[in-house]
Amino acid sequence: MSTRPEIAIFPDAATLAGAAAERIHRVATDAIRERGHFDLVLAGGSTPEAAYTLLGSSSHPAHATMSQWRLFVGDERMVPLDDARSNFGMARRTLLADGPIPDDHIFPMRTDLPSPEAVATDYSTTLAQVFDIPTDGPPPCFDLILLGLGDDGHTASLFPGKPALEATKWVTASPPGELPPPVDRVTLTFPVLNAARAVLFLVGGDKKAAAVAEILEGSPPITDRPAVGVRPEHGRLIWLLDAGAASGLRSSPG
Ligand code: 6PG
Repeated sequence: MSTRPEIAIFPDAATLAGAAAERIHRVATDAIRERGHFDLVLAGGSTPEAAYTLLGSSSHPAHATMSQWRLFVGDERMVPLDDARSNFGMARRTLLADGPIPDDHIFPMRTDLPSPEAVATDYSTTLAQVFDIPTDGPPPCFDLILLGLGDDGHTASLFPGKPALEATKWVTASPPGELPPPVDRVTLTFPVLNAARAVLFLVGGDKKAAAVAEILEGSPPITDRPAVGVRPEHGRLIWLLDAGAASGLRSSPG
């Protein structure tokens, strides 16, 4: 049974990014101490960019641990990795700019394959190999999965009303939702998200306020606000918000 989410609110985008970078570093340090490596799934979109840039700076203390990080993506657009719309491309320009993580510890989705279905199958196989688990068994357990939130309550590429919400496979193809960019996607699914040791939502801006309030204080159907379906079975659920994203909440976090 998942526990109540931890919610923290920050005055603006810059302090939100700093807090996110610090929390990622803290989780990484604990994971490396306990298991010798840190398995991190990156969120896409634009919100995490500032936090990735902070972490990617050689002056950030997290740099000293990054040789033990293994980096994955939560979802990807079916575009080349050097395309401006690529989620991995954004990580490469920010977090990976100084090359702090060994190339053989970095696992982008292979969007050069002929279809999103082929990319999903290939990524599942990669996860099974990296975690040394069978592809038909329980999902991999990541130390931390970062997620964003769309104005419509989607997360990763789990869009309202779409078949990916029902997927039981670890990775699935996902046709575009209503929000841009209108390209096919590939996404981790709820079984993987909910198997994580920790999931961290990073949400900024008042455009997200209605969805945040519905998800944290209401009980919308998963098909309407998919992010409400992220309830780690044994892991921690953390929401880091700026004041705009939190402006619709009735109660400030205890
Ligand atoms: C994507 C992301 C998506 C994103 C939200 C929020 O591929 O777009 O995975 O889930 O996190 O849409 O995006 P912004 O951070 O740009 O608002």
